[in-house]
Amino acid sequence: MAGMGDIHGFNAMDARSPLSLPRTVALVGLMGAGKSAIGKRLAMRLGLPFVDADDEIERAAGCSIAEIFEKYGEADFRAGERRVISRLLDEPPHVLSTGGGAYIDPETRALMRAKAVTVWLRAELDVLFDRVRKRAHRPLLRNGDPKEVLARLMTQRYPIYAEADVVVDSTAQPADRTTEQVIEALRAHLQTEKTPA
Ligand code: S3P
Repeated sequence: MAGMGDIHGFNAMDARSPLSLPRTVALVGLMGAGKSAIGKRLAMRLGLPFVDADDEIERAAGCSIAEIFEKYGEADFRAGERRVISRLLDEPPHVLSTGGGAYIDPETRALMRAKAVTVWLRAELDVLFDRVRKRAHRPLLRNGDPKEVLARLMTQRYPIYAEADVVVDSTAQPADRTTEQVIEALRAHLQTEKTPA
């Protein structure tokens, strides 16, 4: 029989109670990990704004990321990315999707770790490849075989993404399900922050 707390099937202490975020949630992971798709859903669920760092970089630069790479090179792109993410991290809490290389830059990573809760959306090569192969706008995937590039970036970057506060597997399952798993992982992480060691 349902107790008072379970009236209407809702218990204030259960997994569906609202999650309030003390600071920005920054999503990290490789191209195709689902940072934008999951980020938008997560923002809706948390009642927070969604911000895509790559869109903000393009807005600030007045041109596309592919054009920034072409005209100025990757190092300048990373410097711009660092400036934009630094500014965004000083804004009120929101869900921030970051480009795949942002967390790999040591300074950008330090800023994100200091000012946000970081979530790595970890995905297997076939999942990543399946998602990126339909679109051609990513400069790093234009140099050589995209699957090989992704495999190389996995080897280089996965040990670094693993430093994120929270890790959630991004699989071929529906994005709403993965979003749910991110919320539960965030809840568990924030609980450990509250509990003194
Ligand atoms: C990059 C990922 C891209 C974009 C740029 C570089 C990377 O963002 O920032 O092309 O270094 O992995 P997405 O991860 O959103 O595709």
